[in-house]
Amino acid sequence: MALGSLSLFRALLFLSLTASALSTRPYKNGLSPDFYDYVCPQALPTIKRVVEAAVQQERRMGASLLRLHFHDCFVNGCDGSILLDPTPTIDSEKLAFPNNNSARGFEVIDQIKAEVDRVCGRPVVSCADILAVTARDSVVALGGPSWKVRLGRRDSMTASRTTANSDIPAPNMDLPALINNFKRQGLKVKDLVALSGAHTIGFAQCRVFRDRIYNDSNINHAFAKNLQSSCPRTGSDTNLASLDPSPARFDTLYYNNLLTQKGLLHSDQALSTDESTLELVKSYSYDYDAFWKDFAKSMVRMGNIKPLIDNQGQIRSNCRRVN
Ligand code: HEM
Ligand SMILES: *[C@@H]1O[C@H](CO)[C@@H](O)[C@H](O)[C@H]1NC(C)=O
Ligand SMILES: *[C@@H]1O[C@H](CO)[C@@H](O)[C@H](O)[C@H]1NC(C)=O
Repeated sequence: MALGSLSLFRALLFLSLTASALSTRPYKNGLSPDFYDYVCPQALPTIKRVVEAAVQQERRMGASLLRLHFHDCFVNGCDGSILLDPTPTIDSEKLAFPNNNSARGFEVIDQIKAEVDRVCGRPVVSCADILAVTARDSVVALGGPSWKVRLGRRDSMTASRTTANSDIPAPNMDLPALINNFKRQGLKVKDLVALSGAHTIGFAQCRVFRDRIYNDSNINHAFAKNLQSSCPRTGSDTNLASLDPSPARFDTLYYNNLLTQKGLLHSDQALSTDESTLELVKSYSYDYDAFWKDFAKSMVRMGNIKPLIDNQGQIRSNCRRVN
C-alpha cells in the first residue's frame, strides 16, 4: 500500500514535470526563462557565481562580457558564433574589425562553460545561452537592472567574419546609419537609445575615438583637449578612455554626458543629433527607472534575435569549436 502510493506520487510528479517541460515554450521564438529548471537547476546560479568572481577581480570584465553577447546577437543571431576560434573551415568572427584586439572575456566564458558542464554532469547548456545569462549577471554585478533571460538557444556550427564586419555597428556611424543598422536586426529606435546605454560601463581605445576628438564639432572643447593628451594624432592606438565617467557603475551618467557633448564615440554623440532620440536621452539622463526598465526590455529583445532552437545547431562541449 505504502509502495503503491509512492508509485502514484512518482507518476504524478513525472506528469507534472512533463507538463512543465512542455510548457517551457511560451514565446513565439521558442525561448523560455525556465528552460534549464528541470534539466540542470544549478546552471544559472553557477554562471552567476563565476561572473561575480570575474567582475570582482576586474570590474571591466563585466563590460567586456556584456559586449560579447551584443556582438554575438548582431551576427546571424544569438548563436554563440562569436566564440568559435579560427580553423581552416571556421571564418572566425574574432578576427573581424570590431572584435580583433577588442573583444575580450573569452577565458571567462570558457571557465563558466567548464563549471556549468561539471555541475550539470554533461553539456546541456549552450554557449549562446551562457553569453545571454552572463550579460545579465554582468549588468547586475555592476549595479544595474535585472531581467529574466529567455533560454533554449542552441549553438551554431559556423561563423562569419564577413557578416561581423558588415552587421556590427561602427563607431563612426551617424544617427541614420545606426537606426538602419538596428532596424535590420528588427530593433527599434528606442532599442538603439536604450542599448547604447551599455556604454555607461567599460572602455574604448584611442583608435576608435581619435577622429571624434580631433574632427567632430559637436564635442565639448575641454573634454576633447583632455582626451587628446592620452590619444595623440598618431600612435598610442590602444590607449584606453572610459566610455563614461563611472565605467564600473551601471548609472545614467552616459546620457548626462551626451547632453553636454561629452559622448566618447561619434556614434554615442549621434544620439543627441535629432529630436527623436534626444527626447529619450533626456529622459534616461534623469530617470533611472525609465532607463533600467527600457534597457532590460531591449536586452530581452536583442537576446531574441534569430536563435537556433529544437534540433537546430548543437550544444557545444567547448565553446571555441564545433563538436
Ligand atoms: C550603437 C552602436 C554601437 C557602437 C557603434 C559601439 C561601438 C563600440 C566601440 C567602438 C567600443 C570600444 C571598443 C574598443 O575600443 O576596443 C565599444 C565598447 C563597448 N560596447 Fe559598444 N557599441 C554600440 C552598441 C553597444 C551595445 C548595444 C552594447 C551592449 C548592449 C555595447 C556594449 C559595449 C560595452 C560594454 C563596451 C565596453 C567594453 C569593454 O570595456 O571591454 N555597445 N562599443
Ligand atoms: C588582428 O590583429 C593582429 C594583431 O594582434 C594582426 O596581426 C592581424 O592582422 C589582425 N587581423 C585582422 C584580420 O585584421
Ligand atoms: C580629420 O580630418 C582630416 C581632414 O578630413 C583628416 O585628414 C584626418 O585624418 C582626420 N582625423 C584626424 C585624427 O585628424
